[in-house]
Amino acid sequence: MPARRKKEWFDNDAFWRETYSFMFPEDQFAAAPEQVEKALALAKPGGKDALDLCCGPGRCSIALAEAGFRVTGVDRTKFLLDKARARARKARTQIEWVEADMRNFVRPEAFDLVVNMWTSFGYFDEKDDDRRVLQNIYASLRPGGVCLMEMLGKERLARIYQPTTSDVLADGTRAILCHEIVDDWTRLRNEWILIRQGRAKTYRFHLTIYSGQELRDRLEQAGFTDVTLYGNLDGEVYGPDAQRLVAVAHKAMSADAR
Ligand SMILES: C[S@@+](CC[C@H](N)C(=O)[O-])C[C@H]1O[C@@H](n2cnc3c(N)ncnc32)[C@H](O)[C@@H]1O
Repeated sequence: MPARRKKEWFDNDAFWRETYSFMFPEDQFAAAPEQVEKALALAKPGGKDALDLCCGPGRCSIALAEAGFRVTGVDRTKFLLDKARARARKARTQIEWVEADMRNFVRPEAFDLVVNMWTSFGYFDEKDDDRRVLQNIYASLRPGGVCLMEMLGKERLARIYQPTTSDVLADGTRAILCHEIVDDWTRLRNEWILIRQGRAKTYRFHLTIYSGQELRDRLEQAGFTDVTLYGNLDGEVYGPDAQRLVAVAHKAMSADAR
């Protein structure tokens, strides 16, 4: 019998349900079509089969479908996939939704494009798990396929890091966000305190934050070639003013090209 893996923070469905309005405000949905248009301009996929890995409530999946792609959205959180289904129905788009862990989802040579958007990588305690995710993406791409990842990069974090920030959301929720960088500047430990109607609830989660070079190395180790880094989806250089870490990585047409 396979060993049961220990529960990690992202396995807690209540985390995604209770932070939903904070994590996925309407303006993020409104921004998705433009983000996807820009992502496509950078990735230039050669075909129309797309995987949105860690699709959440389907922001980018729906935008990709509206841009003419056949889309598969994969996510482990049923609550978010239900939101995605409802939004896709409303948008009259046909999307395949798959409830799966990104460590396990692999569909050999099925896609021309894989996107992984909005810091949906680096969640695992074991570094080998991140490696496995990239190997799965690589295996799921057709030869000539392309992967685009978009996340908060370590260089950006170093510039904007503040141990505590606070904000009031549109629905009146007060959010106090505490951050700690640990494990030799490789991991970001977060504590979010959301205060609603006088009641405070605390959510803790952590993730590995990659520098541009670290992400490039990981992608190349997984087999990708021709990895280009950008500082945002507009395609600006990954330099001192980078707002995001965007990586575009290719699977060579033939294995010999590696
Ligand atoms: C920050 S959200 C981003 C969602 C989406 N990519 C977007 O741009 O709106 C991260 C997503 O990763 C999903 N996720 C977390 N751990 C996962 C895992 N182990 N396997 C698959 N999905 C996971 C969560 O359910 C959530 O939808």
